[in-house]
Amino acid sequence: MTDDWSGAGDPPRVDVTRPSTARVFDYLLGGREHFAADRRAAESVLERFPRAGHLAKDTRDLLRRGVVHLAGTAGVRQFIDLGSGLPSTGNAHEVAHRIDPTARVLYVDHDPMVLSHARTLGTDGKTTMALSADVRDTAAVFDHPVTRGFIDVDRPLAVLASGILHHMHDPAAAATAGTIVERLGPGSYLLLGHFVDDGTSGGPQIEAAIRHMGLGTYRYRTWEELRQLLDGLDVLEPGLVYGNEWHPDELTPTDSPSHTLYAAALGRKPG
Ligand SMILES: C[S@@+](CC[C@H](N)C(=O)[O-])C[C@H]1O[C@@H](n2cnc3c(N)ncnc32)[C@H](O)[C@@H]1O
Repeated sequence: MTDDWSGAGDPPRVDVTRPSTARVFDYLLGGREHFAADRRAAESVLERFPRAGHLAKDTRDLLRRGVVHLAGTAGVRQFIDLGSGLPSTGNAHEVAHRIDPTARVLYVDHDPMVLSHARTLGTDGKTTMALSADVRDTAAVFDHPVTRGFIDVDRPLAVLASGILHHMHDPAAAATAGTIVERLGPGSYLLLGHFVDDGTSGGPQIEAAIRHMGLGTYRYRTWEELRQLLDGLDVLEPGLVYGNEWHPDELTPTDSPSHTLYAAALGRKPG
């Protein structure tokens, strides 16, 4: 099931009684788009896992640097941001528009609040659009009339899979990555940002703690499992590395306590 909303009509319904990943993430980032259930959930995550706030910020910084690199160095002008969430600042279109105000960004998320938040994001129906879809259903994203009308798949595009595939179980994450790669034309990109289990940093323990809190899937994958998500792509320099080591700049946190819990890579479809 998908839906699009670009600011007209009534916003979609939001269940405020249960925590949502998007709103818990917003709370961890210090945002304002959350309710009591989200705050309670986020506080219990922080109690067990005090590095969660740093990890959320590392995630955002990787997304920012990914878009800067793609729009700046690679010259990409079309982005599909999967699992965009609803942070109030630093969203992909804000970053891309600093480089080219005509760059197009399609936000996709299954949380209805992300659609209602589209107005705040500045979704204007011209350079930014928002779509409600489960990204595990790749066809629902790529074949949706909004996507078809907005994104030209014959031109280079970048799919931003930052902080999304680790919310999926094993077969779903690999299947989703695989079908995204199939959909990419030669010269298009997939940015991966993902929790990593490097064998020493405690990712699986955090995963287990969060699973028992009923907050959904938080899957820490090994380097090898992450490499498999990039099958079919040329992984560009510096390769698959800790997130903060991927093209760091002067804003990148250098002393993040969650440094070894997050990984990143940029893949390009050969051809
Ligand atoms: C950690 S948050 C946002 C991460 C954001 N992309 C970033 O890099 O900062 C993850 C988002 O993925 C969304 N999400 C999780 N599973 C999803 C799915 N199967 N389909 C669509 N969105 C999903 C959640 O609603 C949430 O907004």
